[in-house]
Amino acid sequence: MADATGEGDAVPVDGIAVTAIGVAVIRAREDARPDRLYSDPLARAFVDAARAGFPPERWARLEALAGQFYEGRTVGVRLVDHSVQDALDHGIRQFVLLGAGLDTRAFRMGLPPDTVVFELDLPETFAFKEPVLERAGAVPSCTRRVIPADLRAGWRHALLDNGFRPEIPTQWVDEGTLGNPTEDWKRRLVEDLTALSAVGSRFGVGRFAVDAESPQYREYRNLTAGDKGAGGERAGEKRAGGASTSGPWGGPDAPGRPTDEVELWLRDIGWDTRFRGWNAMTAGLGRDVAQDDPGVGTVFATRR
Ligand SMILES: C[S@@+](CC[C@H](N)C(=O)[O-])C[C@H]1O[C@@H](n2cnc3c(N)ncnc32)[C@H](O)[C@@H]1O
Repeated sequence: MADATGEGDAVPVDGIAVTAIGVAVIRAREDARPDRLYSDPLARAFVDAARAGFPPERWARLEALAGQFYEGRTVGVRLVDHSVQDALDHGIRQFVLLGAGLDTRAFRMGLPPDTVVFELDLPETFAFKEPVLERAGAVPSCTRRVIPADLRAGWRHALLDNGFRPEIPTQWVDEGTLGNPTEDWKRRLVEDLTALSAVGSRFGVGRFAVDAESPQYREYRNLTAGDKGAGGERAGEKRAGGASTSGPWGGPDAPGRPTDEVELWLRDIGWDTRFRGWNAMTAGLGRDVAQDDPGVGTVFATRR
């Protein structure tokens, strides 16, 4: 348990939960900009607490890597904020964050009090996150339910046991945790969330590709594996030998081929889909993140 100064925080210094710290570094950097795309003051609290628990050399590498992913990811955060706001405007009041990490939308977006946000992530993520929030005196504007669970098994019951209501529409938020949802257990996860989705529920799937052998992805794997050369791999990443459809910290990093199979499959299992290109979504944000490939973007799915 952390004390009042944060000494003793259970900082995850390796394993996939480290990726959440990388995203917090990115959000803290965005928050500090005068031209910020969103405000996230709590990101700084996570970064400061995490840095205190990291060996300095590993921290420097994590910050450097976050810098390499910064542009695409921070714009991606803004796009998800927009989709959450749009869902609210259309009456959705139930949100499930798949691999919530150190996400702070329940605190920073002014979500209405009748909204429920379920945060699903591994126990080690919340062992770090909750004490930091408590010390910061953070109070959510809505109902927030924390669900320590592994997305590969058991999460569905944990969600239902914590008050999830399958009879009302839900927005499922995946921000780079799942990667290509047609891969092995992720397919089961999407089928399970489909079964829990009332008509009008929403889900978004990023369509982009990364070069898994690029230097930053090698470094990403090294950091999450604790430099042991193996392990650390859970959702949202694919190891050497091919391209994944997801970057570990989200955002498109390289041109990719459209994964039409995802869209076709979602339609088959009960969703209407609509594709929006990354360039169209990011135009007007004032950031230099344009992609050459028009197939990069998001498949927006609505349960029928
Ligand atoms: C790239 S981070 C994104 C975090 C968050 N969505 C954000 O944007 O800040 C991916 C998150 O997925 C979580 N994750 C990965 N595999 C998981 C699994 N099998 N079960 C639960 N959470 C998982 C990690 O712990 C991490 O917090």
